[in-house]
Amino acid sequence: MKIEGKVFVVTGGASGLGAATATHLIGQGAKVIMVDMNHQLGEEMQKRLGEKSKFVQLDVTDEVAVEQFFKNVEQDYAQLNGLINCAGIGPSAKVLGKNGIHALDAFQKVLNINVAGTFNMLRFAADVISRYALPAGEEDRGVIINTASVAAFDGQIGQSAYAASKGAVVAMTLPLARELAQHAIRVMTIAPGIMETPMLKSLPQNVQDALGEMVPFPKRLAKPEEFAQLVGHICENSYLNGETIRLDGAIRMQPK
Ligand SMILES: NC(=O)c1ccc[n+]([C@@H]2O[C@H](COP(=O)([O-])OP(=O)(O)OC[C@H]3O[C@@H](n4cnc5c(N)ncnc54)[C@H](O)[C@@H]3O)[C@@H](O)[C@H]2O)c1
Repeated sequence: MKIEGKVFVVTGGASGLGAATATHLIGQGAKVIMVDMNHQLGEEMQKRLGEKSKFVQLDVTDEVAVEQFFKNVEQDYAQLNGLINCAGIGPSAKVLGKNGIHALDAFQKVLNINVAGTFNMLRFAADVISRYALPAGEEDRGVIINTASVAAFDGQIGQSAYAASKGAVVAMTLPLARELAQHAIRVMTIAPGIMETPMLKSLPQNVQDALGEMVPFPKRLAKPEEFAQLVGHICENSYLNGETIRLDGAIRMQPK
């Protein structure tokens, strides 16, 4: 797939990995619709990225709003070639914590945003993408890229809800790729390690350095641009499908 001239939706596009992805895709000549709950950051991003970008405030778990959002995308762009799901939350809590037993609604909230939100966006995106003709001279009608985490494989103490949610994102990759193959839509997942996003950048430098030291090579946190670069490569490489790629400098997280 050529990125230039294509239309992508990026969730979580106001911050961190989503913002870096939107920036990268625009840089490659795509049009990008960023969606996020955070309208202040989203509007700042739109200003920074210019006329090829658009920001829409949207809760990815909202069934009615997401359906309407994709109707609007079709109306405004008459084309959709990809969805990059980066919206997510990553709270941590122990099953038997200092303040009591892990709240069930806290567990359900993580699953709702990270799994149901991802699925809610991709089901409508797949529907829209599937209805357009194959771009001339290309094999792919579209690509869907979801964001998991290394916590899907080596979740730490306190990450039972988060790890369960990211494990689900990994697990749905293959059945989605198998089903959507008939529409020439590929589905991939990226499982990032420790990324230098606003959350981690707010930690004291010595904590950031200690986290970086845990990475076999390179001994530093990953840059959001490196995630965005991988998104770009997945878009362009038609043979990548139905798989999860760890982007982690070979880190394997310890129990805590
Ligand atoms: N930063 C890391 O080290 C890291 C590592 C592994 C995986 N990840 C995953 O990468 C993704 C992006 O993380 P990030 O570090 O860029 O985080 P971030 O907090 O910088 O960005 C996430 C964005 O998602 C948005 N969001 C949250 N809930 C939403 C909802 N219901 N609807 C729409 N938008 C919503 C937030 O407003 C935020 O702007 C997440 O899924 C996260 O779990 C991050």
